[in-house]
Amino acid sequence: MTDTIERAAEDGVADVRVRDLTVLYRTPQGELPAVSHASIDLVRGQITGLVGESGSGKSTLALGLMNAVPEPGRISSGTVLVEGVGDVTELRGEQLRKVRGAALGYVFQASQNSLNPLKTIGKQLLDLGRSHGIQDLRGLVARAKDLADRMGLDGERVLDSYQHELSGGMRQRVGIVLALVLNAKVLILDEPTTALDMISQAAVLDIVRKVHDENGLATLIVTHDMGVVSEIADRLAVMYGGRIVEDGPVLDVLQRPAHPYTRALIRATARITGDTSAAEALPGRPPDLTTVPRTGCVFRERCALATDVCAETEPLLTALGEDRRRACHAEPAAVTGELS
Ligand SMILES: Nc1ncnc2c1ncn2[C@@H]1O[C@H](COP(=O)(O)OP(=O)(O)OP(=O)(O)O)[C@@H](O)[C@H]1O
Ligand SMILES: [Mg+2]
Repeated sequence: MTDTIERAAEDGVADVRVRDLTVLYRTPQGELPAVSHASIDLVRGQITGLVGESGSGKSTLALGLMNAVPEPGRISSGTVLVEGVGDVTELRGEQLRKVRGAALGYVFQASQNSLNPLKTIGKQLLDLGRSHGIQDLRGLVARAKDLADRMGLDGERVLDSYQHELSGGMRQRVGIVLALVLNAKVLILDEPTTALDMISQAAVLDIVRKVHDENGLATLIVTHDMGVVSEIADRLAVMYGGRIVEDGPVLDVLQRPAHPYTRALIRATARITGDTSAAEALPGRPPDLTTVPRTGCVFRERCALATDVCAETEPLLTALGEDRRRACHAEPAAVTGELS
């Protein structure tokens, strides 16, 4: 196993296959799932956008993918097979540390707050390189500068700076530079542009797309912003109540949503319909761990199409045509039909 990991760290890896992943958090009501039986593929050359309201389990799924779920959480079932690495959920300690960063590049949500306040960015970059056994540290610095420049930062200056000398948006971009700089082939970005104004957001998405294409990455972008997804993603996965309820090619899903929750998210996004007055807020509130329905469909309480079966039987994520899946009892045509 160690050999495989070292090779993966050198060569980079590509595809990720998540199967039946369940992540629990300990709560006063006992251990409850924040991610329930999630299965998804991240494919080389494709950017997958993962969307859903706050609390739907997006960050937990992203953390699960790296076997980085913090206490009081744990992965209770499932596998995360990364090509060239193996099942990440079985790795521990040093093996896991090597894979993170070298094979799986990631930017945590609110990563603008996760830099070390006592060291310059350049020093942290060198620490990162050394901890991964990088010999050519000059090359590493040059690459970081280049990435930073391309994201609209002054690379030279940023590397000489302490985090308090940088704005939130600058720190967010530094986080992305650090995620990309080790040449990981899988890139996981959790809300990478939330601290950015529209122009910086566009610049960052642009460079993420370019680096993704140049390096043939498999990229996952977690966001609650359907606009971001429609701009950058190839595929779209939608989460609700800890479940992936729909996924498929982004344009296909946006034009013909087959789950009522996806449809509701699209309707609530004026930037996609292009008509602010047509944006419709989704009524009700998303569930949290303790309030998510234990039987039937997790979305049924907010769903206009719910029938008796939705209260009794949980719809499973099943194939819809070639390249799409959805978890809903309603006829696909009945779901899509109401969009226009
Ligand atoms: N450490 C924790 N302990 C207990 N429950 C947690 C913990 N972290 C997250 N949760 C719960 O797990 C569920 C999923 O949280 P998660 O952060 O994955 O959602 P999210 O989709 O990323 O939301 P957001 O859009 O706000 O970032 C939520 O109900 C949340 O309250
Ligand atoms: Mg989150």
